[in-house]
Order: sequence, then C-alpha cells, then structure tokens
Amino acid sequence: HRGRWWRAMARDPSLSPRFPRAIIIGVRKGGTRALLEMLSMHPSVITAEKELHFFNTNEKFSKGPEWYRLQMPPSHDDQVTLEKTPAYFTEPEVPGRIASMYAGLNITDLRLLLILRDPIDRLLSDYTQLMHNRGERGKARPSLDEVLLTRDGKHINTDYKAIQRSLYAGHMENWLRHFSRDHLLIVDGDRLIREPLPELKRVEQFLGLPSFLGSDNLYFNATRGFYCLRDVRRNRCLNDSKGRPHPNVNATLLAQLQEFFRKPNRKLYTLVGQTFDWA
Ligand code: A3P
Repeated sequence: HRGRWWRAMARDPSLSPRFPRAIIIGVRKGGTRALLEMLSMHPSVITAEKELHFFNTNEKFSKGPEWYRLQMPPSHDDQVTLEKTPAYFTEPEVPGRIASMYAGLNITDLRLLLILRDPIDRLLSDYTQLMHNRGERGKARPSLDEVLLTRDGKHINTDYKAIQRSLYAGHMENWLRHFSRDHLLIVDGDRLIREPLPELKRVEQFLGLPSFLGSDNLYFNATRGFYCLRDVRRNRCLNDSKGRPHPNVNATLLAQLQEFFRKPNRKLYTLVGQTFDWA
C-alpha cells in the first residue's frame, strides 16, 4: 500500500496517517472482519486493512506510538481511522496500554467497538478455525469432546483457550478498569449476521459519523448465506474463511456448555447493562 499512500499524500497535503479514533478490540470470531468491512464503506471511515497486533505484542508495542501512527492509511482530519485486532479483547495487558498511550497523546475521544456473539457459537467458530489451522500445518485434529472436556469426560475443560476467550465477563472487567462504559459500544454479532443495518446505524451514531450506510450497501447472498457488501467500488462477499460450517454438538455436551456459560453470561449483562439472546 505504501507507494499508493505516498502518492496520495503528495497530491493532497491535508492527507496524513492519524491515530485510530476507534478500535475494534474483538472478540475473535465475533464478526470483526464483517464489521470492519461494512464500516469501511462509510466515506468518513478509513480502515487499516491488516490486523496490527500492536498493543498485544511486546516487540511491536516497544516501537512506540509514532510507529503505530505510521501504520495507518492516510486520512483527512474529519475522518475516523479504524483499526481492528480481535486479540486485544482477551489479552490482559492491552486495555492499560491503550489507555495510557492515548492519555499520553492527549487524545480523549477514542471509542472502542466490541462485537460479541453467543459464546457457544463463538467457541465452535474458534474451534473450527483452530482445527483448520492445525490441518494446514499437518497436525492432528482432536475432536470437540477431546478439547472441550476434562480427561475424565465429566467437566468443561476451562484450560482450553477457546473456552477462556468465550468467558466475556472476566475480560470485560479488565477493560472497565481502564475505560468508562460510554467509550465502549457492544455490537451484537448474531444480529450483524441476520440484519446488519441496524447494528451499523448504532455504530455510526456512537462514532458521531454522518448517517450514510443504507440498505443499498448490503444485499443478501443466498449461496453464501450471508450479507455481502455493495459500494462504489464493487459488490463483494467476505472470503471463504468466514462462514465455515461448525461441527455438530451432541445434546449432552450442548447442555453442559449452556450450564457452564449461564453464570458468566448473566454477569456480563450486569456489567455492561445490556442483554443478549444467548441461552
Ligand atoms: P463463522 O465462520 O464461524 O460462521 P471474525 O471476522 O471475527 O473472525 O468472525 C468471523 C465470523 O463472522 C464468521 O464466523 C461469520 O459467522 C461472521 N459474519 C458476520 N457477518 C458476516 C458476513 N456478512 N459474511 C460472512 N461472515 C460473517
């Protein structure tokens, strides 16, 4: 991209890389790519295409704020630069790092976007992704029961990363120690799949953007089973890594998972003052 960015900046001196004023912090497999791509159709939103992993990687974070800024595509000062790195939500050091870096830069209007989905669906999506990655590396792919249950087969294996990532309340407590609730919008990932527009309008409002996105920007693609995007550039669907079939879960395991997530889910609703249609 760099060459294109430099040429654009040479033509228009009011263009420059700016710190994100909004960050999609997660959750992994929540629909973060769909949210970013949909918002990128808004003329006031400029998105970093790649996940930067700046705040969750020591080696990158140590390069400092200026390095981070220079990774951003050029924008005008009335536009919102948006970054997404889904790992931010679940990495404990991230909220403190973002809060102190932005305080040091005197930027007070940073907005956080979090897209959440039923934790069991998210878990199955995460498992599907992890097994896909293992397959690509020629590694064995354990069954769902093998990873989700303890050795005796009786309990949910709380050491499994993908289980931990679905325990939203604990992660949320960590964020709320550093950010006030009104700086964070929780997008409903299940709704973003079924009916994206109302969720996108909520984001526009939250970010203080002029109302722009409309039904013209989205169309349902029956073959994919998902909404796809339509803007001045072209019609496009997300790639095949989004919307993969999930494994079947037997009734016993499903009941166990529902029981396991019930309390943490209720805790999240209380913490954020918002409810979701999760079991
Ligand atoms: P599945 O692949 O499990 O269905 P992320 O981008 O955070 O990795 O999230 C991936 C999830 O985004 C997909 O999970 C899919 O369900 C969801 N998604 C939401 N809207 C979508 C859309 N319009 N097209 C494709 N996937 C979408």
